[in-house]
Amino acid sequence: MKHLKPVVLAVFALAVSALLVLSGCSSSAPTPAATSAPAATSAPAAGAAAAAPAAAGKAIAIKIGLSAPLSGEVKTFGESTKNAFDMAVDEATKAGKVNITAVVVDDKGDPTEGVNGATKLINQDKVQAIMGSVTSKVTIPVSEVAQANKVVMITSTSTNPKVTVDGKRKDFIFRACFIDPFQGTVMAKFAATTLKAKTAAVVYDISNDYTKGLSEFFRDAFEKGGGKVVQFDSYGAQDVDFSAILTKTASLNPDVLFIPDYYNKVNLLANQAREKGVKAPLLGGDGWDSPELDTKAVEGGYFSNHYSPEDTRPEVQDWVNKYKAKYNVVPDALATLGYDATNLLINAVVTAGSADSTKIRDAMAATKGFKAVTGSITFDQNGDPVKSAVVIQIKDGKQKFAEAVNP
Ligand code: PHE
Repeated sequence: MKHLKPVVLAVFALAVSALLVLSGCSSSAPTPAATSAPAATSAPAAGAAAAAPAAAGKAIAIKIGLSAPLSGEVKTFGESTKNAFDMAVDEATKAGKVNITAVVVDDKGDPTEGVNGATKLINQDKVQAIMGSVTSKVTIPVSEVAQANKVVMITSTSTNPKVTVDGKRKDFIFRACFIDPFQGTVMAKFAATTLKAKTAAVVYDISNDYTKGLSEFFRDAFEKGGGKVVQFDSYGAQDVDFSAILTKTASLNPDVLFIPDYYNKVNLLANQAREKGVKAPLLGGDGWDSPELDTKAVEGGYFSNHYSPEDTRPEVQDWVNKYKAKYNVVPDALATLGYDATNLLINAVVTAGSADSTKIRDAMAATKGFKAVTGSITFDQNGDPVKSAVVIQIKDGKQKFAEAVNP
């Protein structure tokens, strides 16, 4: 990952500090259940505005499938994603650009459900494009189905490299987020530079490509920077008792403990780590971002994420206000990337001037400087955008912007 050299942007810190008051960052507030209530605003999508509006009566009719975990262990991820997907679809339809029929599948965060859902979307519902899924462990197998059927797909938040390239490039597959080699490097450098950590313990789910991959990328970057990884231990997907691993962590007394799992597992791990006497600050990745994160257990910890609602850029503040007006909660990264990914797809449909999946794929690949809420998006040859990350601290039970890091 030689080309991924994060540089801390102190300027951003200054800019956002002005907005601390506004933040409130209600990540601890409940995310409303997914709803299909009408949009509270008819303003055009910030992102989709880049595309020329279709002439009246010329809206392109298209069927888009959404695959997201609306129930199960990571259901807040799916709820936020669907909230944002609904908003982007409503806005584009009102603007007369496209005439979207949306078909939603609840993949429950389960790979088998994801594959069955994608197969149904393609064979039965005959969708021309898929938005989803949300977690890498589901999105990787879903992307295989989409690619095999030549159906264009964009995932909003799945960060594992294998989503778009697994041996070879899956040319119908795109994503709206950065990838884990970058995210792991961001947290390793943050630990070494900002927290001055010399030693780190890493604990991860061996059955989950996301946590396993992110742990490996973190380990490699931390060691490359001269740090020592004193523990690198894994557990299984069904495990709920981490006593043995965490007793070992406590005795090793590392400077930081990296636990890059999803919020449910992080809640268990963090509580048990403290019970076993682990003193180190806890670090994680984007999977921590949920209103159901146990902020007491991870108090003082840090995680990398895709955006901060404290970002003062007008496109971010417009989005935060618009989402709050509709759902009464500050949008998390899942919602924000869900909005960006859906708008990227709609923009490609409008640019292609067609609902043909291959033409949309070509328009998507040619996307340059698309103005998304999370930044300007241009895909590299792998369908991955190059984007910055933020580090968020859990302080007094709330999310607080700590640093922005550029690739
Ligand atoms: N990046 C995670 C994955 O690939 C999904 C995720 C993204 C979760 C953003 C929370 C927030 O599995």
